[in-house]
Amino acid sequence: MSLVIRTLRDTRECTNSGIFTAYGTQKAAFEAEINPVFEKIETVISQTNALGRLPLWEGYQDLKNYGRKIGKNAKRSIFQVRTGEEICRFYTWLVVKMRPKSVVEFGAALGASGMYWLAGLTICDSGMLHSFEPNSAWCPIARRNFAAIGERFVLTEGTFEANSSLIESEADITLIDAIHTRQFVLDQFEIVKSVSRPGALVIFDDINFSPDMKDCWQEIANVGDFPGVWQLGNRVGIVELS
Ligand SMILES: C[S@@+](CC[C@H](N)C(=O)[O-])C[C@H]1O[C@@H](n2cnc3c(N)ncnc32)[C@H](O)[C@@H]1O
Repeated sequence: MSLVIRTLRDTRECTNSGIFTAYGTQKAAFEAEINPVFEKIETVISQTNALGRLPLWEGYQDLKNYGRKIGKNAKRSIFQVRTGEEICRFYTWLVVKMRPKSVVEFGAALGASGMYWLAGLTICDSGMLHSFEPNSAWCPIARRNFAAIGERFVLTEGTFEANSSLIESEADITLIDAIHTRQFVLDQFEIVKSVSRPGALVIFDDINFSPDMKDCWQEIANVGDFPGVWQLGNRVGIVELS
């Protein structure tokens, strides 16, 4: 498996570019060291997948500009909604290299990406994950999965927008991985900026999910005046805040 990291912008003010450029040469040694933890997380994910498809959150009904049709009573398994393994491993790398005080993610879904953030925080023995998930059927499963990996988390059952005041320390890294429409993401990004420190990384999942999401990422990557902009494959966009 190989993750293609593309640098779209790297200005003199950018503070995190070394983390992205070092990954190619340091990835193999890093993964060899951490592999038992990654294997444990993937075992937990497989066990969660054995629960089958579970009901989607009601907030997915009647969305405008959503790239997919969501029927009534739609259900998904963890394999269908999780961030891919290769990208998740990079998230653990980011934490180990940045040693953040605060990682924020929404949504948690069934806990896959969150477990990889937690693996990094556990290795650092510092920092907290603040994760949010409004699906009351999924959140307890994510909580159980997180607890299998580490203690450095606060998981809130509810939306990020309604609960962002619970974030205790300015965010160093935020993953926006909730409803993939331009309007939701841009509105959430405004809140993320207000709870982040300068130099923080903001990660946008599923930037090619739909024409609407492609527009969203183009707007953020090209119009926003950010010191650093990267892409992980065709799936994830990342900006460094000024
Ligand atoms: C694609 S899944 C996230 C996958 C997860 N990050 C992973 O890699 O395992 C999207 C999740 O976002 C949740 N969600 C939707 N809107 C949200 C919001 N406003 N705040 C927090 N979570 C939200 C959904 O219920 C769903 O579980």
